[in-house]
Amino acid sequence: MAARRAPTVAVPVVETGSPPTRTGSAVGRPVLRRDGPAKVTGAARYTDDLAVPGAWHGVTVRSTEPHARLLGIDRDPAFDWSRVVVVTAADIPGENVVALMADDQPVLVSDEISHIAQPVALIAAPDRATAEAARAAISLRTEALPPVLDPLASERTIAAYEIVRGDVEAGLADADLIVEGTYRVGHQEHVYLEPQAMIAIPRPGGVEVHGSLQCPHYVHTALARALALEPESVVVVQEETGGGFGGKEEYPSGLAIHAALLALRVGRPVRMVYDRHEDIVATTKRHPAIITHRTGVTRAGDLVAQEIEVVMDAGAFTTLSPVVLSRGALHAGGPYRCRNVRIRARAMATNTQPSGAFRGFGAPQTEYAAEMQANRVADALGISPATLRRRWAYRQGDETPTGQVLATSVAAVDVLEMAVAASDFERACAGTVASAVREHAGARARGVGLALGWHGAGFTGSGESYLASVAGVELTAEGEIRVLAGSTEIGQGARTVFAQLAADALGVTVDEVAIAPADTSVVPNSGPTVASRSTMVVGGLVVRAALGLRREVEARTGRPFAEGYREDARTHGASRVDERFAGFPGITWDAERYRGDAYPCFSWSGAVAEVDVDLDTGEVHVVSVVQAVDGGRIVNPLLAAGQVEGGTLQAVGYATIEEMKVDGGRFVNDRLATYLVPTALDAPRIRALFVEEPFALVPHGAKGLGELPMDAPAAAVIAAIHDATGAWIHDLPATPERVLAAILEAERAAP
Ligand code: MOS
Repeated sequence: MAARRAPTVAVPVVETGSPPTRTGSAVGRPVLRRDGPAKVTGAARYTDDLAVPGAWHGVTVRSTEPHARLLGIDRDPAFDWSRVVVVTAADIPGENVVALMADDQPVLVSDEISHIAQPVALIAAPDRATAEAARAAISLRTEALPPVLDPLASERTIAAYEIVRGDVEAGLADADLIVEGTYRVGHQEHVYLEPQAMIAIPRPGGVEVHGSLQCPHYVHTALARALALEPESVVVVQEETGGGFGGKEEYPSGLAIHAALLALRVGRPVRMVYDRHEDIVATTKRHPAIITHRTGVTRAGDLVAQEIEVVMDAGAFTTLSPVVLSRGALHAGGPYRCRNVRIRARAMATNTQPSGAFRGFGAPQTEYAAEMQANRVADALGISPATLRRRWAYRQGDETPTGQVLATSVAAVDVLEMAVAASDFERACAGTVASAVREHAGARARGVGLALGWHGAGFTGSGESYLASVAGVELTAEGEIRVLAGSTEIGQGARTVFAQLAADALGVTVDEVAIAPADTSVVPNSGPTVASRSTMVVGGLVVRAALGLRREVEARTGRPFAEGYREDARTHGASRVDERFAGFPGITWDAERYRGDAYPCFSWSGAVAEVDVDLDTGEVHVVSVVQAVDGGRIVNPLLAAGQVEGGTLQAVGYATIEEMKVDGGRFVNDRLATYLVPTALDAPRIRALFVEEPFALVPHGAKGLGELPMDAPAAAVIAAIHDATGAWIHDLPATPERVLAAILEAERAAP
């Protein structure tokens, strides 16, 4: 591998390592994505494509200071205000909050401005140009207040956790070697292909919104609160959605309220569609974090102590930070057995854009630091990173720092071995001689790096029990089979996977199963489309509901469901079976003490990255990434490979080029011309491989998969840069400047 040179322009290739799990059935087959043809042919209609006769256009007046008192909203008397409608905080009929966890985020500023680009007023006009002209004619009268921009200087704690196992001081005292490290990761922008978009339509006594979103029932709750409407008077419909990655988990609630406030004021539909610039300026990003480790090991390489401190920048409001931090803390030690652990984590408020959900939800940040430590320990001890992980990695029966015994579906070693073998990691690693290469000007150096990842599937702690999600399967009077769930298709394949699962349970073909639209007036609340939970948790409900429907219909007809359901619909009429989630047996979490089974199970990944570093410019080209994952039984190998490919590329971007520069609370590179993400030309060759270690507490054996591929590759890339150059990068991304500086530093430090 080290000897072979890759072509200059690498074409991403996906190989699926797993054969179909059960031939002859829908599950385990690479069924093509249902939403695929319409999307690739351009026939799919996204929110901005929807023609709504008579709709006005809404725009947002935003703050330009990170912290200030709002004294007044001044309108230029030269503008003809009769042509537009303006809404401010005083016009909100219900509570001025975007309901989520803490209700601290206002819909519109009433007195205190807490961050740049915070919504202060809304304007609607018959056309966009007039709305924008009105926005330009508004000025905010403010009195500046001192901003807090550094989470380490913040005195306002949004959330904090401490996890203790054993005695970390004693463990560190016993260690032969202590490796310390501090790692900083910054904001990451989601760059979903379709920016935020929402259309609100006034209905008698209520409102209906259509938009690009992940969680229709979150939006529903938030609308009812802010507009003081009965739940029955609010309808939320998810339209075709061009990606989410967590960025459409909480943000659309506020935008839906904005559009609805204007629509109810104007008495007409109002559309609010962000362009890319506004989307980057105004919406959430991945939480920046500063993570410090002290890792104690014996000379033989045993892990004896992990002392970890995590500080996340929550931004101005709580949003989902308590749960993002929680997931970050719970994964902070990495997938490694350790007797003495102390993890202290806190999320601090600052006068910057609220941080929010983003694929991985806190885990990519803390796992990056954990994997850096593992690789640096291996380096310090002169042990292969693979050998070290074979010693450290969790096995069945091991206990995590919260006291969770990993009783089932533990595949850390399996994914490690699969990734190592598929990449020929150990030979490639041994074959790299960076220092010799570095003598020559203009030289490029090749290196390989390894990292492991783990990801708790589903909501953290008691989250799933609290949600008590419902999904159903119905046979309509017309003889159509429909899956009913509030879970949304956001490009990940939920519609296809649900159809496969229902088809299998009913014994019909995939094409016979329809998926009901994600419309809150039609489908039950199956919980938000987040946390790698749709296939595992909601999919399990779909299977059980389908089996229930099958039993019911077969009892009536005395024939197999597939042969009798059409006639049953004609003679008996519609049938429907709903299933409610009622906990996983034996899984218990003590929220008070923050101990117990943090997740019903974990998914596992092993990533090997190969990089090519230009030693003159510091530019890093990621040549290939092999990622072996265990997401339990794979329902659709094609879609699963797509998740791994996409997540890997997002992680490669995080590691190498994605950097949001923040100055005085302002995002500086707030356009795609300046915020760089990997394109097809930057994409490494990606191989997605699967270990299938089924999860026994769901009928189909699937675990979470969507977020996991984001966890390990960044650290693998940085380890590969070290292998190539001898230099350790600590802070992401590994920009050419940082790489060059680290190489110079490593050369200075060398004896
Ligand atoms: Mo999410 S980051 O949509 O759980």
